[in-house]
Amino acid sequence: MPAVSRRAVLGGAGAGLAVGAVGGAWGGRASARDTRPSPGSARVAFHGPRQGGIVEPAQARVEWAAFDLLPGTGRDRAAGLLRDWSAAAARMAAGEPGGDGGGGIALDAGPNSLTVTFGFGASLFDKLGLADRRPPALAALPAFPGDALDPARSDGDLWVQIGADDALVAVHALRVLRRLAAGTAAPRWQMAGFSRTPGATARPMTGRNLMGQVDGTNNPRPQDPDFAAKVFATGPDWMAGGSYAVLRRIRMLLDDWESLPTDRQERLVGRRKSDGAPLSGGPDAGERTPVDLAATAPDGALAIAPDAHVRVAAPASNGGAAMLRRGFSFHDGLLADGAPDAGLLFAAFQADPARGFVPVQQRLARGDGLSRFLRHEAGALFAVPPGAPEGGYVGQPLLE
Ligand code: HEM
Repeated sequence: MPAVSRRAVLGGAGAGLAVGAVGGAWGGRASARDTRPSPGSARVAFHGPRQGGIVEPAQARVEWAAFDLLPGTGRDRAAGLLRDWSAAAARMAAGEPGGDGGGGIALDAGPNSLTVTFGFGASLFDKLGLADRRPPALAALPAFPGDALDPARSDGDLWVQIGADDALVAVHALRVLRRLAAGTAAPRWQMAGFSRTPGATARPMTGRNLMGQVDGTNNPRPQDPDFAAKVFATGPDWMAGGSYAVLRRIRMLLDDWESLPTDRQERLVGRRKSDGAPLSGGPDAGERTPVDLAATAPDGALAIAPDAHVRVAAPASNGGAAMLRRGFSFHDGLLADGAPDAGLLFAAFQADPARGFVPVQQRLARGDGLSRFLRHEAGALFAVPPGAPEGGYVGQPLLE
């Protein structure tokens, strides 16, 4: 059975994840006249050395949910929850019913590249008497200038990220996992996001955010020799092959942003809006043209402005700090003043936040070009353990 093209073209090479299409009802064609396999049949195997939802291209839909353990929940109960969650996630990723709960929401749909990613917050370790096994990389992040983080929508003992190319499939998975948590953990906060739908563009392309920018170009790539060193942790033992996820709900001041002329928007980022080409590359540059931070314009000014987002965020400006960004847009209606409650559910995966998000955000928050149009409203840091082998569950080496 051939893999569905989007996953095959953009899928996480080297991620150790099986990507393909499901057989049975979902092995068929989209229609009698369409020879492509239905996008709904694409699946990402749940079991493997890495958890899904890190290196795969962002799916069309995401649900993020954080849970807090109920008082009195001990290690056995927490382990049981991760066992149940992992088993349900594996079934749903394979296109099988998730089990009890879910209300039939996803009936008729294939797995739609469903991934379920589990993370552990710093508070989990205290509650389970595991403080001595909390990794140093999970230490609280510093406060950044301009942060206005809402505690009710930040942090949490457990994090679940559900990605799928169909909204009903994603919400169904969330309902199933929430039901399995009953009596053990209570939902703390929940956020929903979206990204490009597979097939929306004539050929696979880097997606755009709600500011209209091509976003994700200079991410580390799975084929880079140092990709794993940047993104995946080597320890402690139970975290080897895992990653650390920094999350931020970043609201965009879209009405202000959209009132700027395009050339001004481009200077604040350092890339062209039409195709994402760096402003240092001249008219023939393309999205993949390397950024040249030293390049100057004919008038002698830096081609990429001193406060351009790509200059301030670049590894070269931050002692080599790097992370894999995998954000989703959100658009949650209107604020009291009528402005859109919209922006980016920013997620960055890295081997150690102290060598990734922290130094970069410290510089961005002091005033890159984009910051004036952004508000950081919620945040969290989670240890994302490695994937579980067949028959195992995520976090087993820590919890059993
Ligand atoms: C690059 C947008 C927040 C780190 C970019 C690019 C865009 C962009 C358009 C250029 C294309 C690319 O290489 O992906 C945004 C928007 C943000 C945001 C709209 C908020 C809503 C952040 C935050 C961080 C960050 C919070 C980290 C603390 C980076 C990095 C790059 C980048 C590391 C690549 C720089 C390079 O090496 O060229 N961002 N970004 N961004 N951004 Fe952001």
